[in-house]
Amino acid sequence: MIRHAILIVDDEPNMRESLYDILSDYGFCCDIAENGEHALQLLQQNEYSLVISDIKMPKVHGFALLKTVKERFPKTSLLLMTAFATISQAVDAIKSGAEDYITKPFDPDDLINTINRILACKADEEKSIGMSNKKTDRPSAIIGQNRKITEIYSLIKTVAPTNASVLIQGESGTGKELVADALHANSTRSNKPFIKVNCAAIPANLLESELFGHVKGAFTGAIKDKKGKFELANSGTIYLDEIGDMEISLQAKILRVLQQKEFSPVGSEDVTKTDVRIIAATNKDLHDAMNNNVFREDLYYRLNVINIVLPPLRERNDDIPLLVKHFINKISSALGKNITGISDEVMSKLMAYEWPGNIRELENVIERSIILAKHEIVETIDLPEQFHEDVTVLSSENDSFRLAKSEFEKKLLEDALQKSNGSVTRAARLLGISRHSLRYQMEKCGLRKDA
Ligand SMILES: Nc1ncnc2c1ncn2[C@@H]1O[C@H](COP(=O)(O)OP(=O)(O)OP(=O)(O)O)[C@@H](O)[C@H]1O
Ligand SMILES: [Mg+2]
Repeated sequence: MIRHAILIVDDEPNMRESLYDILSDYGFCCDIAENGEHALQLLQQNEYSLVISDIKMPKVHGFALLKTVKERFPKTSLLLMTAFATISQAVDAIKSGAEDYITKPFDPDDLINTINRILACKADEEKSIGMSNKKTDRPSAIIGQNRKITEIYSLIKTVAPTNASVLIQGESGTGKELVADALHANSTRSNKPFIKVNCAAIPANLLESELFGHVKGAFTGAIKDKKGKFELANSGTIYLDEIGDMEISLQAKILRVLQQKEFSPVGSEDVTKTDVRIIAATNKDLHDAMNNNVFREDLYYRLNVINIVLPPLRERNDDIPLLVKHFINKISSALGKNITGISDEVMSKLMAYEWPGNIRELENVIERSIILAKHEIVETIDLPEQFHEDVTVLSSENDSFRLAKSEFEKKLLEDALQKSNGSVTRAARLLGISRHSLRYQMEKCGLRKDA
């Protein structure tokens, strides 16, 4: 077994000593530096597998040290320590190349777990050097080249190997679960359990027991002890889908897991320790939820260490051709049909559509069209009803009824927008339609969002 050398950098003597004790007891070979300058001297003299450094230090700041280590000692990993108040700095640190961060005060077991994971990951990387590198920047299941989505790929790549909690936001059907899959698959926990819980699908009174388990007799029907998802996910990842729907009382218990890494099963006072990485997702606006006091602010900040916001499909419609091709290949072979593409007219209709259900809706439309298609190419007639109306008809001048109708509609929209001072949300409420359809109508009538 390799005995890894670790360099501890902290300006606080107590912290240095306790780190030294924990790490040496565990069998690491440790050196200590009091500040960044001292650390750089030692780095020149010895080879370290890992530097563990405080972010806030006089003279050479943790960030400057990070930069130098990454440039001059690329084989050395870096773990940063931060107080909770500066967690945003830790996120920046990860983005600029630190392997992970840990918040003070920390549990010695957590520290050792984190270090072991970093070192194991590094060993894997070293092993794969020289072999063909199958890992591309794009997680294989996620399709798209739009700028917003490629930024998300690199964020996934950067944060996946860390322990940081991730909050994924986006409208329904934008691919939140795919991102969660990619985060787990690219993490150092990828061969450990990945447990998914849909918080909206489980009745509120059962969710607590589902998550944390229960003991026999905890409630009517609890005939024996049952393990919860957090216990099953131990050492792996848990995906809390639709977290915005979780009741506030239960949110406190999730916060406890995040902060203390512990929970108690329903009906028991026993404390169970857990090492689980949390990925949460929601299509709700959590800021609204916090303003309405239905989502805890402290939980929001704990979950939102890394924030991934998936754009709606209408904001990345340049990806539609790629997605269409992907779904045609996938679905046509699954259904045993030989569909090779779609007509130009179908493509322009798909590009012009609003896609309130996003990629899931696109996938469904393609599936349905493939089932109905009589030829190798999908034609307009194979598309659902909403694509049949000819959009160019509105501009045909001799159709006076349509013209009058659209004038009237436009006036209605303008009035509503004026009454609501341009707020699309309020105007939609006034008209009794959804924000999506209002935006669609506005575009159809040539009204700008700031009109
Ligand atoms: N970029 C993408 N490339 C390929 N398929 C995608 C992509 N994004 C989403 N999909 C597909 O679209 C469907 C919906 O994706 P997913 O379930 O991840 O969305 P979601 O945001 O979790 O939706 P919801 O909020 O409704 O739970 C899935 O079948 C998924 O495979
Ligand atoms: Mg989902």
